[in-house]
Amino acid sequence: MELIDGKKVANQIKQEITAEVEQIKKEGGKIPHLAAIIVGHDGASETYVGHKEKACNQVGFNSTVLRFEDDIAEDTLLRKVDELNKDTEIDGFIVQLPLPDHISEQKIIEAIDPKKDVDGFHPINLGRMVIGLPAYISATPAGIIELIKRYNIETSGRDVVVIGRSNIVGKPISILLGQKSDTGNATVTLTHSRTKNLKEVASKADIIIAALGQAEFLTADMVKEGATVIDVGITRVKSDKTKSGWKLLGDVKFDEVAEKAAYITPVPGGVGPMTIVSLLQNTLKASKGEIYPRL
Ligand code: GUN
Repeated sequence: MELIDGKKVANQIKQEITAEVEQIKKEGGKIPHLAAIIVGHDGASETYVGHKEKACNQVGFNSTVLRFEDDIAEDTLLRKVDELNKDTEIDGFIVQLPLPDHISEQKIIEAIDPKKDVDGFHPINLGRMVIGLPAYISATPAGIIELIKRYNIETSGRDVVVIGRSNIVGKPISILLGQKSDTGNATVTLTHSRTKNLKEVASKADIIIAALGQAEFLTADMVKEGATVIDVGITRVKSDKTKSGWKLLGDVKFDEVAEKAAYITPVPGGVGPMTIVSLLQNTLKASKGEIYPRL
């Protein structure tokens, strides 16, 4: 069994981005600039945005965080989005989710200029991705593809089972792996809560992507010997064995599945660290006009 070390790969990619930013600076080019909007004081959102800001600093990007109270009106937030759309200094931005109930997340996402939508949540980016046009791919599927690439995991002609059909992981990764591309050409089965005989389906897969959000759901009896297992889950559970009193569990029962798998991602340290790197990669692409011609 080989562990897919997301932390190591993420650090490597950060170094590559840092070198590229240094080169851009030397040549007097535009330093990539990511902005984030955060509404309210949700603890997890604060943590995520803090990590994104820190990652920008590490690689030499500029970053801006715009904070608003959770009683901000939807119209006001839409105006802020529009200001960022028009701000030529900002290459890309994200609106951290979830938003308060009185604000339509879909309306906000659709107000973001697709050319600056480095989260890849806008329907235009999702649609472009589906038909194989250059598009911003959202952080988790992009991170999974990068791991598959860097570990030279063959996807062509192989059977993939994706568990979970969320808009930000299950659906996009199933499309990317089935796409005509170097990290695609797989035969993909997208499974979900109504799938019959999931054990039978999963145990035939060469590659399993577990992205349903249920701690330790995937057990060894559902996995073929020699399969590649990518775990997207992160559930925080109480633990008396850690200093913090909490531990993170993936969607995969790691110890028993690791005994059968050829490659497996751990939790933490697998897909998680790759997500921020994907956002950095998208921001770099935005500043270079790689997906859409420069603004
Ligand atoms: N909330 C949790 N993950 C994400 C993410 O990747 N992007 C945004 N905008 N909000 C999130």
